[in-house]
Amino acid sequence: MGIAAESVGEDVLRQHAEDAFAEELAALAAADERPRPPRWRLSPWAVATYLLGGTLPDGTVISPKYIGPRRIVEVAVTTLATDRALLLLGVPGTAKTWVSEHLAAAVCGDSTLLVQGTAGTPEEAIRYGWNYARLLAHGPSRAAMVAGPVMRAMSRGLVARVEELTRIPADVQDSLITILSEKTLPVPELNDEVQAVRGFNLIATANDRDRGVNELSSALRRRFNTVVLPLPATADAEVEIVGRRVAQLGSGLELPPVAGAEAELRRVVTVFRELRAGLTEDGRTRLKTPSGSLSTAEAISVVTGGLALAAHFGDGVLRSADVAAGILGAVVKDPVADTLVWREYLETAVRPRADWQDFYRACRDADPA
Ligand SMILES: Nc1ncnc2c1ncn2[C@@H]1O[C@H](COP(=O)(O)OP(=O)(O)OP(=O)(O)O)[C@@H](O)[C@H]1O
Ligand SMILES: [Mg+2]
Repeated sequence: MGIAAESVGEDVLRQHAEDAFAEELAALAAADERPRPPRWRLSPWAVATYLLGGTLPDGTVISPKYIGPRRIVEVAVTTLATDRALLLLGVPGTAKTWVSEHLAAAVCGDSTLLVQGTAGTPEEAIRYGWNYARLLAHGPSRAAMVAGPVMRAMSRGLVARVEELTRIPADVQDSLITILSEKTLPVPELNDEVQAVRGFNLIATANDRDRGVNELSSALRRRFNTVVLPLPATADAEVEIVGRRVAQLGSGLELPPVAGAEAELRRVVTVFRELRAGLTEDGRTRLKTPSGSLSTAEAISVVTGGLALAAHFGDGVLRSADVAAGILGAVVKDPVADTLVWREYLETAVRPRADWQDFYRACRDADPA
């Protein structure tokens, strides 16, 4: 419960998964008769259903959160019921953070025990810090300790999350080794320790492209089961992912309804997939690939931005001009090299398509040169 959360209630800009989907989670818990691991809110089967979607015997519809291979979700969920921690690995925008939040919400009802990994993450963020006023007044004691998210998860038997694990300096990463192998956090200042309660586990995420920044030590890697989240396998799957998220985001932002989004959405996804693959959909034309990752997550923001433009400044229909600037911004990360890649794509792949002429013109207009 955060500061002023009571007075703000449902008006927060972004709800935690366990609040946004509280009804689904309650319906699943009520219908769930399978065995639950210690302190889990749901059985592994129900957690997987929460992530993948489904219909309960009483007719409650559980919306899919993750669209992708069922097996991946099953392995991720069962890992959390073992003594190994879970590492979600993948290129940017493959829903690693998203899946980690929903897993924590479904397993223990709390997705907020989060450490954001950066090059500057200190050991205290993973272990504990001190309330210096108390420390100076009364010396080191349990009461003077300020528990970090991982320590709180350990003492309450919950799931902790570490975002971007590989960005954390190696020596700080290593403070996780004892936690994950011995399930205890030594407190040398008190000659004491905090032992993990049953139910504790940890989900870390790491970006493929960051690998090598601070490669995981093999000692730490052995404590994790690694699950790789793939890019959407087909254009249809990616259209579905983008469509669902855009609809959710749009209703959260209370955008007025916009017509004709489907066609433009498919076009955005096609452009992203073609540039990512370096090949047109028909397999005939080779393309240069831009430097950025062109992730599904970026496709979601391009379409959401386009919808906002269409809703507030357009005629209520999503048109090419509404997404063109967003696409340009997503593709051109390096102003020189990517601009060339983009223009070549427009001329070789887009221009010849008879039904893409409005899109071609909109993209030409959006290009500042
Ligand atoms: N397969 C998928 N199923 C459902 N949603 C997806 C899928 N792939 C991407 N998304 C959506 O993409 C958005 C971004 O995902 P997220 O931020 O979790 O990516 P990430 O893998 O953590 O990226 P990064 O490496 O940049 O941190 C989320 O809103 C999520 O809904
Ligand atoms: Mg992430």
